[in-house]
Amino acid sequence: MKHFEFENDKLIVLDQRKLPFEKEYFVCSTYQDVYIAIKDMIIRGAPLIGIVAAYGVVLGFKEIIEKNNDLSKIYEIINYLASSRPTAVNLFWALERMKKVFEEVRNLSKSQIYSLLLQEAKKIEDEDKNINKKIGEHGNNLIKEGANILTHCNAGALATGGYGTALGIIREAHFSGKNIHVYVDETRPYLQGARLTAFELSEDGIPNTVICDNMAGYLMKLGKIDCVIVGADRIALNGDTANKIGTYSLSVLAKHHGIPFYIAAPVSTIDFNIKSGSEIPIEERSEDEIRFFNGKKIVPDESKVFNPAFDITPAENITAIITERGVIFPPFEEGILKLNEK
Ligand code: MRU
Repeated sequence: MKHFEFENDKLIVLDQRKLPFEKEYFVCSTYQDVYIAIKDMIIRGAPLIGIVAAYGVVLGFKEIIEKNNDLSKIYEIINYLASSRPTAVNLFWALERMKKVFEEVRNLSKSQIYSLLLQEAKKIEDEDKNINKKIGEHGNNLIKEGANILTHCNAGALATGGYGTALGIIREAHFSGKNIHVYVDETRPYLQGARLTAFELSEDGIPNTVICDNMAGYLMKLGKIDCVIVGADRIALNGDTANKIGTYSLSVLAKHHGIPFYIAAPVSTIDFNIKSGSEIPIEERSEDEIRFFNGKKIVPDESKVFNPAFDITPAENITAIITERGVIFPPFEEGILKLNEK
């Protein structure tokens, strides 16, 4: 089975908390289960959060049918799913698409509404896979033969409908025979890099080396990094980009060393309603993600802990934003607005 599947009114997702050494699945039979899957990071990654939330609406509508609830309960369900995580805009984008379909067809029979909601969720999923392939193709034009690429977090197949955004480009470069090598930031505290990105790359036979997050600057200084490619959780109109905590520091290091810094993301990650990154809500997660390592307490009880899950990379540190509709360069606002017209 792939990393998620909707079958017989159930959404089955690979539990990403257990990877790479255990393959366990979490079964979502209700929209509340989907909320837990997103909130507890059983699944994660901006595009996948959107896809999974869309299926959450389908499961919510199933409950409306079974309990003979009023149709307007769908708004409560959508709002509930929207409260699962605050930063990745794909969540709100996908829920908005589901809401729009519901409002267009709400006069049909309940079973027809259900089928059309399911159809839309599948469409969101299928579109995402094609989008990632296109991001890969556009991005590959920027990758040199034999490049050493640094990536952070996991913007791969596991974070999307398949193939990946940043890892989509890396896959495309590898499979087109460019002889690339990838440095993978381990990405504390959730270790998406060490556990998920290294796993995906190794499964595809893409040469990779895992480093601790604090080693990137040294590698850049040694001339070992040719470019940085990361994903995004939300991009503002001016190009400011929210991504996994640590991305901002990497961008500063890359700028200092004159290394290209690329963002790879679908257009659904752009928030056309906000002008700059200062408007992006940053999720703060549980202290325990830092206090404990592998189930063992590592921080003295007297110490405070701060755990923001994302940071904002200012547009001025970004060399290009690679989307399925093309690559845009600074100043980004004009290019971003054009992407919306395409
Ligand atoms: O907290 P996560 O694991 O959901 O954060 C994921 C990231 O920051 C990814 O880089 C981003 O969502 C892009 S995934 C294609």
